[in-house]
Amino acid sequence: MQLLEGKVASSAIKEDLKNKISALQSEGKKVPHLAAILVGNDPASETYVVSKVKNCKEIGIESSLFRYESSISEEMLLEKINELNNDNNIDGILVQVPLPKHISEKKVILTISPAKDVDGFHPMNVGNMVLGFPTFISATPYGILLLLQHYKIETPGKNVVVIGRSNNVGTPLSILLSRNNNDYGNATVTLCHSRTKDLKSICLQADIVIAAIGKPKFVTADMVKANAVVIDVGINRVKDETKKSGFALKGDVDFENVAPKCSYITPVPGGVGLMTIAALLQNTFQAAMK
Ligand code: GUN
Repeated sequence: MQLLEGKVASSAIKEDLKNKISALQSEGKKVPHLAAILVGNDPASETYVVSKVKNCKEIGIESSLFRYESSISEEMLLEKINELNNDNNIDGILVQVPLPKHISEKKVILTISPAKDVDGFHPMNVGNMVLGFPTFISATPYGILLLLQHYKIETPGKNVVVIGRSNNVGTPLSILLSRNNNDYGNATVTLCHSRTKDLKSICLQADIVIAAIGKPKFVTADMVKANAVVIDVGINRVKDETKKSGFALKGDVDFENVAPKCSYITPVPGGVGLMTIAALLQNTFQAAMK
């Protein structure tokens, strides 16, 4: 069994971006600039956004973090997004989700200019992704593709089972992996969800299992065939009195028992999460180059 280390793969991507940005600087050109918006104080969202901003700094991407109380009105938030859309200094915009209930995520996504939508959530970018046109691919699916590419795990002709059909992960991944593209696609993909019958027998057919369901230890050893590749997208906060924070981060896969059966597996933390950030940085760089 070999670990698919997000740290190794994301460091390679970050190093490459760092060099490209430093070249821009030495040519006297503007460096990319990401605007991140955080509403409320959900601890997980706070951690993610702080990490995104920190990673920007590490490679020379400028960032601005705008924090708002959860009481901010939808109108004010949309106004801020419009201001950033019109600010030539800003290349990429991300609004961390989930948002408070009184703010429509749909309206927020539709307000972000597709040219600055580095999360790839806008329907125009999702449509381009479905059709295989150049676009911003949302960070988690893109990060997983980059991780597979880094470790030279080929997908053409493989049986891939994706568990979970979220708009941001499962659904786009199922489309990307089945597209006629030898770099990351040409797999036979089965997208499983809460209404799937006999999930275990479907998973046992899989050369690659991707768990994106948000339930700790959901994928057990009896669901995975020998030498499968297992990608764990879950980041679940599980109570753990031995930790200072009072919780531990656990994936959707029962790592301890599944890992010995696999050819490759992602750890949590240290797997897909780091790739999501690398993919966001890549999208922000791309946005600035347009
Ligand atoms: N919340 C969880 N993942 C993401 C992400 O990739 N982007 C944004 N904006 N919010 C998230």
